[in-house]
Amino acid sequence: MFPKTTLASLALSLFAVEGAYVGARSGILIPFESPGTSTRDNGIFDYRQAIVEAHYTRNKHLDNLITFDCNARRITSDECADVELPSAPFFKRQGLLLANPNDSQYPAVISIGSDSQNFTVIFDTGSSDLWVSNANGCDDCKGYQAYNSANSSSSHAVDGTFKIQYGGGATASGPIFTDTVDLGGWLVVNQTFAAVTQRTGFPYINGVLGMAYPSLSKLGAPPFIQNLLAQKFIPTDEFAFKFSPPNPHTLFGAINPGLFNGSIEYRTVNTSLGYWQLGGGSLLSGSDVVFSGLETIFDTGTDFIYGPADQVKAFYDHIAGSQLYDGTYGLYTIPCSAIPQVAFQWDGGAAWKVTQTSFNLGETQSGSGQCIGAIAGSDFGFGNNVWFVGRRFLINIYSIFSFANNLIGFATLKDPPP
Ligand SMILES: *[C@@H]1O[C@H](CO)[C@@H](O)[C@H](O)[C@H]1NC(C)=O
Ligand SMILES: *[C@@H]1O[C@H](CO)[C@@H](O)[C@H](O)[C@H]1NC(C)=O
Ligand SMILES: *[C@@H]1O[C@H](CO)[C@@H](O)[C@H](O)[C@H]1NC(C)=O
Ligand SMILES: *[C@@H]1O[C@H](CO)[C@@H](O)[C@H](O)[C@H]1NC(C)=O
Ligand SMILES: *[C@@H]1O[C@H](CO)[C@@H](O)[C@H](O)[C@H]1NC(C)=O
Ligand SMILES: *[C@@H]1O[C@H](CO)[C@@H](O)[C@H](O)[C@H]1NC(C)=O
Repeated sequence: MFPKTTLASLALSLFAVEGAYVGARSGILIPFESPGTSTRDNGIFDYRQAIVEAHYTRNKHLDNLITFDCNARRITSDECADVELPSAPFFKRQGLLLANPNDSQYPAVISIGSDSQNFTVIFDTGSSDLWVSNANGCDDCKGYQAYNSANSSSSHAVDGTFKIQYGGGATASGPIFTDTVDLGGWLVVNQTFAAVTQRTGFPYINGVLGMAYPSLSKLGAPPFIQNLLAQKFIPTDEFAFKFSPPNPHTLFGAINPGLFNGSIEYRTVNTSLGYWQLGGGSLLSGSDVVFSGLETIFDTGTDFIYGPADQVKAFYDHIAGSQLYDGTYGLYTIPCSAIPQVAFQWDGGAAWKVTQTSFNLGETQSGSGQCIGAIAGSDFGFGNNVWFVGRRFLINIYSIFSFANNLIGFATLKDPPP
C-alpha cells in the first residue's frame, strides 16, 4: 500500500511544475511530543541531564564553527576532515553521557521513506543538517529510532560521508541519502540527510532537523525548509515556535496571529556565521542593564542560556546570594526565594522577560533552598560576548524566524507561561 499522502503529493507535484503555490496556506503545524527540561517533575534540578546537554550543545557549536570555516573557505572536505578539535575537558565525564532520549528537548515526529519510518527529531535553529541514526552497521544506534534504507523504495545513496567531529573522540558519522520526508502529511521529495552509523557522545537524540542557514550545512544540499519552499508546500520560508503549553509546536510557512497579542518586534539577523543571530543585545536583571552590545544566537536545540564563562560569572556577581555550583559546567545557584527578574532587550526595544519560573531550573536538592539559574557559563569558542539563547528564553514568547527577510520576530504570548 502507498502511504495515504502519496496520491495527494503526486497531484501537488503536478501543480508545482506549473509554478502555482499548492501548499498549506495556514502553515504546517508540527506539535512537540514531550516538553523536556533540566528540571525534574518534582522541582529538583536534573544535574545529569544538564551536563549531558552542556556537552552536546558545546560540541554542536564547536563543530558548526569548523563547518562554517570549511564552507566559507571552500577547502575540500578531506582537508576539513583533518581539522582537530581541542579535546574538551567535558569529555572526562563520559560515563554521564547516557540518558533517555525522551528526557530532554522538544522532539517532534517526521517520517522518512516510502515505508514511513518515524523519527522524533529535534527542530534545531542551532544547526543546519538533517540527520538520524542508521539501522544498518551501527552498534551505537541501539535504543534509538534508526533509518533502514533497504526498506524504502525512494531511498538513494549519495556519495560522501557526513561527519560531525567533536573533541575527545566523540563523533557522529555515516552515509548520506536522499529520500522522501513526510512533514505533517506533506511529502518533501529528494531531501538530503545523513543516517549515522557511529554516534559516540550523542546521548538522548534520535535525530536532528537543522533550521539554521545553509552556510552551516555539511551536506552541501538544500536544507529541509528550502525544499519545503521549492516544492511549494509553504508560501514563504518562515517558521514560528511556541514552546509554552498548551499545544507547544513549530509552524512552518506561516505565523498564527491568534497566539500573540500586539505587534511583532522584528529585528534583522546577522547571518555572517550562519546562525539566527542578533547583535545589540542587553541582559537585564531587574532594571539594571548588566551587559549591552551582546551578540545573541538563538538555539531552539538547548534548554539553557549559555554565555561566556567570565560574563556569566559577572552576571551572577550582580545577583544577591548567588554562588558557583559547578565550575566545569558554569552552573550557579541563587536563593529559591529570590529568583532574579531577568530580561533580554535588543537595541532599545522591549525588555523580553525570562519569567522567574523559566529562569529557575530547580532546587539543587530537596530542602536546600538553593536553585540553579538557567544562565550557564561555557566558552564555545565564539568570543567573549557571544551568547546562545535557548528555550528558557524562547518559552516566554512567540518567536518567528524568516529566511525570506532575514528577520527574527518576538511577540507576547496570549497564554504566557507562569
Ligand atoms: C520515548 O518515547 C517514545 C514515544 O513516546 C517511546 O516509544 C519510547 O519507548 C521512549 N523511549 C524510552 C527510552 O523511554
Ligand atoms: C509511523 O507513524 C504513523 C502514524 O502514527 C503510522 O501510521 C506508521 O505506521 C508509522 N510507521 C512505521 C514504519 O511504524
Ligand atoms: C525493514 O523491513 C524488515 C523486514 O521487511 C522489518 O523486519 C524491519 O522492521 C524494517 N525496518 C524498519 C526500520 O522499518
Ligand atoms: C535531488 O537533489 C540533489 C541535491 O540537491 C540534486 O543534485 C538532484 O538533481 C535532485 N534530484 C531530483 C530528481 O530532483
Ligand atoms: C555580525 O556577527 C559577527 C560575528 O559575531 C560580528 O563579528 C560582526 O560584527 C556582526 N556584524 C554586524 C554588522 O553587527
Ligand atoms: C492579551 O489580550 C487579551 C485581550 O485584549 C487580554 O485579555 C490578555 O490579558 C492579553 N494577554 C497578555 C499576556 O498580554
